[in-house]
Amino acid sequence: MKFGDHATFEITDIDRKGRGCGLVNERPACAYFTLPGEEIEGVLVKRQQGVKRFQIARVTKPSPHRTTPRCAFAGKCGGCVWQQFDYGYQLEMKRRLVNRSLVSAGLGGLIIEVIPCPVLYGFRNRMDYCVGWRGEVGLKEPGRWNSYLDLTECHLLSPDATKAVAVFRDWMRDNKIEPWDGVKYTGYARYIVIREGKNTGERLIMVVTSVGPLPAEKELIAALSPFATTLIHGINPTITDLSVAAEMRVLKGEPFLREAVGGKTFIIPPNSFFQTNTIMAGKMLEVVKQLVCGAGVNPAAMILDLYCGVGFFGIGLADLAERVVGVELDAAAIEVAEKNAELNGVRNAEFHAAAAESLSWENEKPDVVVVDPPRSGLHPKVARLLVEKKPERIIYVSCNHDSFARDWKILGEAYQLKQATALDLFPHGPHVELVTLLELK
Ligand SMILES: C[S@@+](CC[C@H](N)C(=O)[O-])C[C@H]1O[C@@H](n2cnc3c(N)ncnc32)[C@H](O)[C@@H]1O
Repeated sequence: MKFGDHATFEITDIDRKGRGCGLVNERPACAYFTLPGEEIEGVLVKRQQGVKRFQIARVTKPSPHRTTPRCAFAGKCGGCVWQQFDYGYQLEMKRRLVNRSLVSAGLGGLIIEVIPCPVLYGFRNRMDYCVGWRGEVGLKEPGRWNSYLDLTECHLLSPDATKAVAVFRDWMRDNKIEPWDGVKYTGYARYIVIREGKNTGERLIMVVTSVGPLPAEKELIAALSPFATTLIHGINPTITDLSVAAEMRVLKGEPFLREAVGGKTFIIPPNSFFQTNTIMAGKMLEVVKQLVCGAGVNPAAMILDLYCGVGFFGIGLADLAERVVGVELDAAAIEVAEKNAELNGVRNAEFHAAAAESLSWENEKPDVVVVDPPRSGLHPKVARLLVEKKPERIIYVSCNHDSFARDWKILGEAYQLKQATALDLFPHGPHVELVTLLELK
């Protein structure tokens, strides 16, 4: 088959990117925005690792789970590859994906139900909208790193966030601001990052550019101010396509956002990680607390919170232990984790800026270790150290069940899986959060 050729095929499965999969001429094929139970006519657009990727030309047999999405960009935008399917079916697909990983790790199909998110729109507290080379402001098409959508609506954040994006777009147009071009590495405007404190009413907006002063700065501040408690100009001087700012200048308000979860308030610096779904972060903290309590951990225990960010789990669990130690690579997050402890009257927590894999654990003997690594999972040294040092219990919070399954190959040498819970922090996409309790064999 050549690129541009058409084929009609049945979707029988899904892959980890949330694409519907089937066979074309007995070879693997996939297409975004489709799910099992459908038949589609597609146009061949790419071949990657033996899989043909098709773009939908027509859905010849639609799934009964297709529904009317709220967003006009659903079916095109990489932000929500499943918005056109009903939520019950999305959850079932997530369950299938997470159980597939658990089975591949020899753990059996353990998840009976994925805990749903009670709100299907406006649930995110952070979006990083990128600027495309033609001046689009929005997100990319899935699987197409240089194809941008000019999102005049997006329902993942609040309606005011969409208005702020429109203000930013007008500012670019009125001042003839050159958009960043990720191929030529030229241009100025790169990202608008919007973070919302769902329980505090705060909103942080960071305009990320390449090096140079902000044109029409006063006008931009005035226009964005109604939508922001904090406004920041961030500079990314590198060619890397990231919204992370190496330099930041506060244009309005305090240099951070505050969000409240589980009765605790957290200060969050503009570049630092925080769970992106506030409601479900609260539910996840409850699950982790129950695992710590239910496991009968004595209150004299020490909890080690690895990959602790701004102290979300450590501070949330501080009442349940005598001592909490948090470790995190991001020094800015650690600086505020200490402030967050103080802010919440937590006196038994300490935080250290370090790579988790650099710890020697010579002087520490934690009873419970909470690990919440990035999508890449645990550094092999961390998995090995856990197996060597043998803390009684590990609570592994994973946003990528595939890397959890890989890490289990090491952890499973010394641990048994006692409990697994899956939570949906990411409606309209294939991701799912997995929280497991591992106990020494
Ligand atoms: C999924 S986030 C979890 C953060 C925190 N537990 C929370 O719930 O907000 C992963 C965190 O790991 C941090 N990180 C990445 N690589 C690391 C490493 N090698 N050592 C320690 N922390 C790391 C990231 O900066 C990020 O804050």
